[in-house]
Amino acid sequence: MNLETEYLGLKLPHPIMPGASPLVDSLDTVRALEDAGAAAIVMHSLFEEQIIRDQWSTHQHQAVSEGITPEASTFFPEQEDYMLGPEEYLATVQRLKETVDIPVIASLNGSSMGGWVDYARLIEQAGADALEINTYHVATNPEESGADLENRTIEILRNIRSAVEIPLAVKLSPYFSSLPHFAREIQALGAEGIVLFNRFFVPDIDIEELEMKQKLQLSNSTELRLRLRWLAILRPQLECSLACSGGVHRATDVIKSVMAGADAVQCVAVLLHEGDKRMRSMIDGLREWMEEHEYESLTQMKGSMSLRHCPDPAAYVRANYLQTLQLWKV
Ligand SMILES: Cc1cc2nc3c(=O)[nH]c(=O)nc-3n(C[C@H](O)[C@H](O)[C@H](O)COP(=O)(O)O)c2cc1C
Repeated sequence: MNLETEYLGLKLPHPIMPGASPLVDSLDTVRALEDAGAAAIVMHSLFEEQIIRDQWSTHQHQAVSEGITPEASTFFPEQEDYMLGPEEYLATVQRLKETVDIPVIASLNGSSMGGWVDYARLIEQAGADALEINTYHVATNPEESGADLENRTIEILRNIRSAVEIPLAVKLSPYFSSLPHFAREIQALGAEGIVLFNRFFVPDIDIEELEMKQKLQLSNSTELRLRLRWLAILRPQLECSLACSGGVHRATDVIKSVMAGADAVQCVAVLLHEGDKRMRSMIDGLREWMEEHEYESLTQMKGSMSLRHCPDPAAYVRANYLQTLQLWKV
């Protein structure tokens, strides 16, 4: 059974890897993930802006540590580990490269153009095998159009592309009005891959205390469907790699993602909850399922349910509920 895949030009034994998160900040955790069979690792982002970094680390750590099982609790790094400044981040890239044999994909979230380019260069020099560019942004300014926002990412990518040679992936949010158009521009600028999707943190309101509640809810598999739709729509239209991030919790989620068109899948929530043993069980589950269903290779399965190949393409583009509601039975 051949589970091999190619992602960002990297040859991987199978498509499953931990996504950007603090999981990889502890060398022990990274070794455990490699021993459990992870195909590569994605580091959490180096945030150029201290404020953003602090927000992510504090809120995410508080929220996540509430939900994890005792077995996985040692798996979650201390909060301080997550707050790496640029120097520590680059040192971590180097240390990870010395520690593991699997590819190390770094991740960058910059705020100024200079910062994006300088850090991308430094990350390349530190030895990262590839770089994920995380353009996390919530649009609040009515003066800025959708095209303005897209152009910002395009300019960042253009500058980073001319500064580094390592493969680049752009991690997108799902909130673009014409994702296929934007994705094609990203590919045309030389990005080797696109990660679908970033997951925005949505605050809640505490109506008694009149406070914003910043608690992060980890994903579950229902979030996968949004990714499946866009993987399936984009796969026939792009040559670059596609990774699925969000809602991959089980081997069946991996299978669906690959069928929709993913070259790689990234998991975070499920590893935070259940630890490295989940990595192993997903790889085994993928292999077993493919054997049972007489697939010879992952390539055979890849994109088989994309918009071009699936038996009911209209299901992916059906946006209103009319027909679906007619099928609803209580
Ligand atoms: C605690 C935590 C920290 C994260 N840190 C980052 C990060 O630094 N950079 C990034 O691009 N995504 C980050 N993410 C988002 C994940 O990479 C991933 O896109 C998201 O959690 C959806 O995947 P999941 O459903 O497998 O959790 C983080 C997620 C969590 C839960």
